[in-house]
Amino acid sequence: MEVRAFKDDIKKYKGKSVAVFVYEGDLKPLARLSKGTSNKAKRVAELENFKGKEGEILKVPTLGTSVDFVYIVGLGKKEKVGEDTYRRASANLVKRMRRDKVESTVVVIPRRGDVSKEITKAITEGAILGNYRFDKYKSKKEDEKFEIKEVLINRGDEEGIRLGKIFAEAQNYARNLVNEPGNVINPITLAEEAKKLAEEFGLECKVYDEKQIQEMGMMALYSVGKGSATPPRFIHLIYKPSGKPKEKIALVGKGLTFDSGGLNIKPGDYMRTMKMDKSGACAVLGIMRAIAQLKPDVEVHGLIGAAENMPDGNAYRPDDVIKAKNGKYIEIDNTDAEGRVTLADVLSYASELKPDKIIDMATLTGACMVALGEYTAGLFTNAPDFAEEIKKTAKRTGERVWELPMDDERLRKKIKNTVADVLNTGGRYGGAITAAMFLEEFVGEGIKWVHLDIAGPAWSKEEYGYYTKGGTGFGVRTCLEYIMKVSSNV
Ligand code: BES
Ligand code: MG
Ligand code: ZN
Repeated sequence: MEVRAFKDDIKKYKGKSVAVFVYEGDLKPLARLSKGTSNKAKRVAELENFKGKEGEILKVPTLGTSVDFVYIVGLGKKEKVGEDTYRRASANLVKRMRRDKVESTVVVIPRRGDVSKEITKAITEGAILGNYRFDKYKSKKEDEKFEIKEVLINRGDEEGIRLGKIFAEAQNYARNLVNEPGNVINPITLAEEAKKLAEEFGLECKVYDEKQIQEMGMMALYSVGKGSATPPRFIHLIYKPSGKPKEKIALVGKGLTFDSGGLNIKPGDYMRTMKMDKSGACAVLGIMRAIAQLKPDVEVHGLIGAAENMPDGNAYRPDDVIKAKNGKYIEIDNTDAEGRVTLADVLSYASELKPDKIIDMATLTGACMVALGEYTAGLFTNAPDFAEEIKKTAKRTGERVWELPMDDERLRKKIKNTVADVLNTGGRYGGAITAAMFLEEFVGEGIKWVHLDIAGPAWSKEEYGYYTKGGTGFGVRTCLEYIMKVSSNV
């Protein structure tokens, strides 16, 4: 599928169909089309009682006029329309085109004149994200022969299209990786994937094996991985701009290629979908892929502790005490709280790089989903100003985040009730917060840090907006947008 701009007057468009985006209760944008088409479309919309609510799409045959049919795509109430509304509308349109087996269309938006870079980018992203499927393991492809050829954006902005493609393709790349099962992506193959990515896009990539991981003092990551037949890997990707970087940012991703719970084994229905426990890592890889193309004036490090959490004679156990890379001792209460144990070492390593900022993304706790529902990521921070910037950015990308507090010192005591420096669980209540407090123990002094608990939004059980069932690639666009902002502003 190609996304391109159509620079000419829409009346001169010669294809079969046009897709007109409209605000709720306002069909005026149809008047942009040639008279015959416009009148027919408007009349049918009224007859069909089409309102233009978000998600509503009407296909109107307009045979005998300049095009064969018009898609009227609802954006919802004008005052609620933002960048993400365009992204979702564009995805809904593309999903409908697939169903209708329509090969091409041109998008017309309500605002007159040239479409801004931001909205063009959102429409481009929506189209590419909405066209995503993961069907490589279906021997007989469902709609085998059909592919959308092109989505044009009337008076679209070229730079918006260029950026939108890079952002959405990075997210789809992350989704593909998340959707790969544990027998395909394990710590070794994930590291190979990182190497391949680095080679293809021109990044530096270092992979450390289980022996080197131990030598580096990353016993926490090592311990989590040692119950698996596939040993852990530590992955370090580096992007350096040609000039002096405006900032140094480290991205950390939880990379559990499968989380069985370990000796504290998960019951079957909780274990299902735990191939997605590598979503944070996949997001980091997707971001690095895009960063290599976008070339911001920011130094970016992508860090992943890849491990598989398995029960075994060699597995780490409850009661074990493990020394992390920053010298702190961790007592294990529950082997299923493994993500934070691996991140202890990766955050310690990240801190040694002395970055200005660290963002970590982790499918860390079921408790976060209990607190916020499955569509919103928990946000935790030691730096309110940095968190505000991420929240503002996430509003634009449509990736929902909500901050949870880290100032409850009584709650913090729950991870201190141990023979060691810190315990790896803090009990049932406030589980997402005590997990974040655990991570904070491994963030170096003076480094601004945001932790995103993406346990909910990293995976979708249903098809909605630009998501299909499965991995969502959540976090990719917000981090990219933020890094690009740092690159252009500071
Ligand atoms: N990977 C899980 C968290 C998770 C749960 C992600 C559901 C996505 C969907 C994590 O490793 C885990 O098992 N956490 C435990 C922690 C508990 C043992 C303190 C949890 O949330 O139950
Ligand atoms: Mg677990
Ligand atoms: Zn996990």
